[in-house]
Amino acid sequence: MDSETLLARITDYASRPDPYPLYAELRDAGPAVWQADGSCLVGTYHEIAALLHDPRMSALPRVSGEVTHKPPFLRLDDPEHHRLRTLAMRPFGPPHSPGRVESMRGEIDRITAELMESFGEGRQIDVVDDLAYPLPVSVICRLLGVPREDESLFRGWSDALVESADVRPGQDTPDTAKAGDQARIEMGGYLLNLAAQRRGDPRDDMLSAFANEPDPSLRLTDEELAETAVLLFIAGHETTVNLIANGVLTLLRRPEHVDQLLREPELLPQAVEELLRYEPPVHMRERVPLTDIDVAGTTIPEGTSVVLALASGNRDPKRFAEPDRFDPTRPDNQHFGFGNGIHLCFGAPLARLEAQSALRALLPHLRTARLVEDPPPYRQNAMLRGPRHLRVQG
Ligand code: HEM
Repeated sequence: MDSETLLARITDYASRPDPYPLYAELRDAGPAVWQADGSCLVGTYHEIAALLHDPRMSALPRVSGEVTHKPPFLRLDDPEHHRLRTLAMRPFGPPHSPGRVESMRGEIDRITAELMESFGEGRQIDVVDDLAYPLPVSVICRLLGVPREDESLFRGWSDALVESADVRPGQDTPDTAKAGDQARIEMGGYLLNLAAQRRGDPRDDMLSAFANEPDPSLRLTDEELAETAVLLFIAGHETTVNLIANGVLTLLRRPEHVDQLLREPELLPQAVEELLRYEPPVHMRERVPLTDIDVAGTTIPEGTSVVLALASGNRDPKRFAEPDRFDPTRPDNQHFGFGNGIHLCFGAPLARLEAQSALRALLPHLRTARLVEDPPPYRQNAMLRGPRHLRVQG
């Protein structure tokens, strides 16, 4: 049956520029679609929402063999996930208050302006390498408290991590994987060392907050601190880069919306939400049922790999009117761009500010700029989908 090969076809590199017709095929095939490899693919909005909220679904994929180190809380279940998530979130400021992230607005705009210096009429830039990558790296470094002179270290580690995350599924590239692991270890060691320096000598940054937690019952162990800081770094930039690059690509293909946003800049936050629905950076997440569960009449046995196609849910016509239309004024836009349920992204306010800052700075140039290649070359990764390069002639 063709539907059994959907996941293989979606992850095939040839589908990277436009996987959306395959997601339509997935939704037509049913809410829970078995794959030849024994996994189950879910692509309809309401079923994805229910599964993301279901405490019987574990975020920790059951891999064979020993787990060598404790996974970050992104892949842990409650109650342990809740403890670490709560601690990691605290330096972001109290919920529902502007907090630290809002206070970063000016800093984010300054970093954007510096990076934009290379952009001008007659010049060619790579939106990915020149803006979409370095912006989130600098922002997360400043939030964590990394001194400016060390940011270049993080760019190096980030490059190694990007390469290692960008391996073609099934392709054997031990060197790239090793370089990625090495980068993760070095970054963890660096951040732990910095946290130790901040202990007793706090500044206004996240590592200082982690290192100086007064309540011993809440304090992170060294291993947890390193794991959490590395998670914040990786989760915070592997995704934001795609949001900015996908956003620029979407707008360059639709000059009428560039004009609209220049005329009505107050629409920008809504346009960013629509980008998170229409071209989300995170296309799929995996979950595993801890017991047999029922999805719209289909029983999914305990231990099955369930792949939630968030990007397909975002285009489900049962939830969104004219889902294949990019509409920056779309009302009631409860997309899965940041996931949902207990693992809902808490970096969302920061990611939104960064994307708004980058797009606001680029908009005046997008009127006359043109894409050098359309479609652009994509990253291998089908789960975190976005262009590897986005060359634009100014
Ligand atoms: C456009 C940018 C971003 C996108 C699209 C994005 C998307 C997501 C998604 C879909 C999840 C849920 C994963 C799941 O359910 O398995 C998630 C979780 C997470 N994100 Fe983001 N994210 C972005 C930026 C950020 C930033 C800037 C940070 C931090 C500085 C961050 C930190 C996290 C963390 C720590 C989690 C795990 C939360 C948990 O397990 O409770 N993200 N993100």
